[in-house]
Amino acid sequence: MDDSTLAGLKTALTATPDNAKLLALVMGAMLERDEGAGALALLGNRGPEHFADTADALIAARVCLASGEAERALTFARTDSAELLMLRARALAHLNRNEEGRAAYDQAVVANPALEDPSLRSRLASRVRTFPGGDDRHMLKVIERGPTDGSDLNQLLTPETEKVTFADVGGLDEIKEQIRKRIILPFQKPKLYQKFKKRVGGGILLYGPPGCGKTLLARATAGECHAQFYNVAISDVLDMYVGESEAKMHAIFEKARATPPAVMFFDEIEALGGKRQYSRESLTSKLVSQFLSEMDGFARNNQGVLILAATNVPWSVDAAFMRPGRFDRFLFVPPPDRPARATILSLHLAGRPTEGRMDIDYVAKSSSGFSGADLRHIVETAADHAIEETLATGQEVPIRDAHLKAALRELKPTTLEWLTTARNYARYANESGQYDAVLAFLDKSGRS
Ligand SMILES: Nc1ncnc2c1ncn2[C@@H]1O[C@H](COP(=O)(O)OP(=O)(O)O)[C@@H](O)[C@H]1O
Ligand SMILES: [Mg+2]
Repeated sequence: MDDSTLAGLKTALTATPDNAKLLALVMGAMLERDEGAGALALLGNRGPEHFADTADALIAARVCLASGEAERALTFARTDSAELLMLRARALAHLNRNEEGRAAYDQAVVANPALEDPSLRSRLASRVRTFPGGDDRHMLKVIERGPTDGSDLNQLLTPETEKVTFADVGGLDEIKEQIRKRIILPFQKPKLYQKFKKRVGGGILLYGPPGCGKTLLARATAGECHAQFYNVAISDVLDMYVGESEAKMHAIFEKARATPPAVMFFDEIEALGGKRQYSRESLTSKLVSQFLSEMDGFARNNQGVLILAATNVPWSVDAAFMRPGRFDRFLFVPPPDRPARATILSLHLAGRPTEGRMDIDYVAKSSSGFSGADLRHIVETAADHAIEETLATGQEVPIRDAHLKAALRELKPTTLEWLTTARNYARYANESGQYDAVLAFLDKSGRS
C-alpha cells in the first residue's frame, strides 16, 4: 500500500472510527511497515467484540503480539481458524506456555499445513531450564530440546534479548575501560578510525577462572553497544556429521552479519582446535579453518559485528587464533578484589528483602578468592536461610546480616585452583608475555 492510499484510509478512519473493517485494514498496513506501536494506538482499548470478522480479529491480535502484549493477543484469538490458532501458539510461546502452545500449533497445522513454522515449533518444543540458584537477571538458561525438534540451528541463531550493561558487572573497571576504548568506540565511530587508518576488526579473547564474569562482560558489551548478542557455545556447533559443523558456523556468522550491530560471543573457544580433546582431529581442524576464514572475512566485511571469545583454559587455545587480526587482544578477567566483591554482593542483594545493616564490608574482606558466581551463591544461600525461617515461623523473615555471614562460613572460594595452575603457566610458559596480567594480579594479591 502506498503512502497516499494509507493516508487516505487513515483520514476515512478518523471520520468513522468504529468501522472495524477499515480499522483492521489500516492496522494491517501499518504492521507491514513496522509501525506496530502506531497500530496499537489506533486499536486503543477495543476488545474482541469489536471485530465480527475473524480475519479482522486476527489483525488486532497480531497488532497486540507485535507490541509484546501476548495476553491481550490471546483475547482476540477466540475462534478456531487455522491462522488464529497459529497466532495463539505464537502468543503462548511468548508467554512461555509451551505446552498449550504446542497443542494450538498442532491443531493449526492440521487445519492448514501451509502454516508450518519450524522455528516456532522448535521454540515450543524446548523447555527453558534455569540453573539452580539463578536470579532473574543473570540467570543462566539452558534450552533443552524436545524430542521432535530437528531444527536446533534456530536455537543457536536466536539472539538473546535480556539487556545487561556494564552497570550490572561489579568491579573489572580496567577491563571495562579497555573494552570501551578498544571495542566499543571503534564500533560506534568507524569513520573516525578509518580516517586515522586504524584497522578495526579482530576479536578479544577473555580468559580467567570460571565464574568471574567473562560471559557477563560479553553480554554487557553487547548491551553497551545496543547490539544483538549471539552466545555461541562451541560444543553446540560441533556436530557428528561431516561438514555440518562448518555449515553451522557459517550460518551463525551470516546471521550476525545480517543483523548488525551484533556481538558474537564464542564460549569455550578452546573446544575449537587447541588440544583437540573434544572431537576428532580432522573434524575440528576443518572447523578451525572455517572459523578463521569467517573471522578474516571480517577484516573486509566487519561493519557492525564484534567478536568476543572466552576460555577458562587459555593454555589450551589453538595458537592460530592469536595471530594479528584474529584474537589479538587477550584480556585477563581476574577474581574480584575487595571493593569489587563488595559491589558484586550489593548488586546481588539489590531487590531482595533485607533488614538492618548488612556488613557487606566484612563479607567482602573475608571472601578473598571468591568468584563473582561464588559471591552470588553467598547471597542466594543467605536468601535460602531467610526463606527457611519464613516457612518455619510463618512470618516473613528478610535477609539479615547474620544470614549473610552464616552463608559465607558455609561456602568455599573456587578460584584458587585455577590460580595455582595459571601461576605455573605464567611463570614457565610466558614467552610472549601473554600472562603478564596474571603475574601482576598474583603479585598484587600476594599469591605469587
Ligand atoms: N563481576 C561480576 N559482577 C556481578 N556478577 C558477577 C560477576 N562475575 C560473576 N558474576 C555472577 O556470576 C555469574 C556467572 O558469571 P559468568 O559471567 O558466567 O562467569 P564466567 O563466564 O567467567 O565463567 C554471573 O551470571 C553473575 O551472576
Ligand atoms: Mg562463561
